[in-house]
Amino acid sequence: MKILGIETSCDETAAAVAQCDNDNIKILSNVVSSQIDIHKKYGGVVPEVAAREHVLQILPVVNEALENAGMKIGDAKKKIDAIAVANGPGLITSLLVGVETAKVLSYAWDIPVVGINHIEGHIYANFVGQFSISNPPAGRAGFQFPILILTVSGGHTMLVLMEGHGEFKTIGETRDDAAGEAFDKAAKMMGIGYPGGPAIAAEAEEFSNVECRMSNEISLPRPMISSNNFDFSFSGLKTALRYELEKDTNWENRIPEYCYKFQQAVVDVLVHKTIKAAEKYNAKTVMLAGGVSANKELRKRMEEAVNKKLPEVKFTMPDLKYTTDNAAMMAAAGYYRAKRKDFVKWEDLKVDCNLELK
Ligand code: KG4
Ligand code: ZN
Repeated sequence: MKILGIETSCDETAAAVAQCDNDNIKILSNVVSSQIDIHKKYGGVVPEVAAREHVLQILPVVNEALENAGMKIGDAKKKIDAIAVANGPGLITSLLVGVETAKVLSYAWDIPVVGINHIEGHIYANFVGQFSISNPPAGRAGFQFPILILTVSGGHTMLVLMEGHGEFKTIGETRDDAAGEAFDKAAKMMGIGYPGGPAIAAEAEEFSNVECRMSNEISLPRPMISSNNFDFSFSGLKTALRYELEKDTNWENRIPEYCYKFQQAVVDVLVHKTIKAAEKYNAKTVMLAGGVSANKELRKRMEEAVNKKLPEVKFTMPDLKYTTDNAAMMAAAGYYRAKRKDFVKWEDLKVDCNLELK
């Protein structure tokens, strides 16, 4: 079956076509039109600007995805079996553009549409093409439930227990800032660019490549690392960084070290709590998902920790190109919903900016 995925939750306009048969998901096209350059000057996403840009981009992006998959817009009606679109959570005006487009195409082509939770999409990025440093791609059959997923992005930080396809239970989440948001705000504080995650990761890498410069003066907390639940909190870490910067008259010359220490603090908490949750819930697979799962240090440390502490447990993470927002992951999630005939009538598909994962 061929699925057209559409994603416009935040600041990427994305469409993709996946060929999905027998749990094998092959991405035929994956088009992402990023608005990063537009929002950069504001240091964050401006919702109204994002929505307008989605309106301009959505049809060219869908058209390009169809063409790259070897179709013309005219034959899509015959060739596409279902449309999968992110309908929340996210920015309401951004989401509406993707959802209304999906509804119009569903109506015009007379094909079913399925609404996908954005976080569910991130999780299903793991089902597209697996990537693991020590375990080569194992194929979909390699997954075993229950799966414990750390889903970390600009909008959310959650530990999710997945007991089967479409069966999600949130066992912990952030009480304030999301991990990606913390990276973005910390980077803004140091004036090193937007989005902050990749900027901090690059500075941190530079620091770890230079020997003997480590000082013990900078100390950052590991918020909630020992709490007896699976929640997170990152806003205190950001404030702690601000205090450290204020104390240091020479901080501009030590940015790589601050970034290194900030990244270590975030990764320490994420790894520790994920392993603890996987143990408690007897997970058979641990997965990473979301934009922050592009972080090399997180990928490496999580894989090492799972291999060392939970040697019986499988570990997977999405291929780098499917970590940040894209529509291939929506098509993948859509396939599993389509298999369960979990369609909605186009007139019933609603946007919900606080959509819960269930
Ligand atoms: O999933 P995503 O594209 O959008 C949301 O659903 O929010 O995630 C974007 C977030 C941003 O906060 C960005 O700074 C972060 O992912 N991010 C990273 C890296 N690449 C992207 N954070 C840390 N390290 C990275 N390499
Ligand atoms: Zn996302």
